[in-house]
Amino acid sequence: MLIAIWAQAEDGLIGRKGHLPWRLPADLQFFKQQTLGNTLVMGRKTFEGMGGRPLPGRRTILLTHDISYRVDHPDVLVMHTPEEVRQLAEQLDQPVFIAGGAQIYQLFEPYYDLLLRTVIEGDFAGDAYFPPFDFTSYELVEQTDGIVDEKNKYPHHFEKWIRK
Ligand SMILES: NC(=O)c1ccc[n+]([C@@H]2O[C@H](COP(=O)([O-])OP(=O)(O)OC[C@H]3O[C@@H](n4cnc5c(N)ncnc54)[C@H](OP(=O)(O)O)[C@@H]3O)[C@@H](O)[C@H]2O)c1
Repeated sequence: MLIAIWAQAEDGLIGRKGHLPWRLPADLQFFKQQTLGNTLVMGRKTFEGMGGRPLPGRRTILLTHDISYRVDHPDVLVMHTPEEVRQLAEQLDQPVFIAGGAQIYQLFEPYYDLLLRTVIEGDFAGDAYFPPFDFTSYELVEQTDGIVDEKNKYPHHFEKWIRK
């Protein structure tokens, strides 16, 4: 089972100079809650933007074309094609979370079973956008407002879409 998980501004913005354009701990918490104990797939740029370290408690599959790319960490697996990832996902009983960035979301576009999208309201600057996407193949089955408080200043909501 392949799940896309991402946070975007209303205009589709997802990144700025290799990082997230906003600070929203509630969304990081949501991401952790959804993915803990499971497998994440990310592009080389997103991985390096996180300091070249995997998130704790999750296996990370890193995608790169570079066959000499090495990461010396037991929780990181380097792969070189999306097919390898899909084969692994088919073998696993647990879901595999496609965790960005823009290039990687696009690679798996035809294959998602589920989408978990956080939409954040605010005026953000950045350089990476979620790729063009056919939402008509999915049904929005859940939408929950996040709580705005001292630490989470931007209005936001969490969406769950299931493939029709
Ligand atoms: N808001 C969110 O939820 C969210 C989530 C994740 C990331 N982001 C943001 O997204 C931005 C990064 O996105 P990005 O599109 O620039 O980079 P990316 O998708 O993280 O990584 C791109 C890299 O993935 C590898 N790759 C791409 N296609 C491949 C293929 N077919 N086979 C093997 N490897 C492949 C390539 O690595 P090589 O160049 O090494 O070959 C490519 O340079 C950052 O700003 C990050 O913060 C946002």
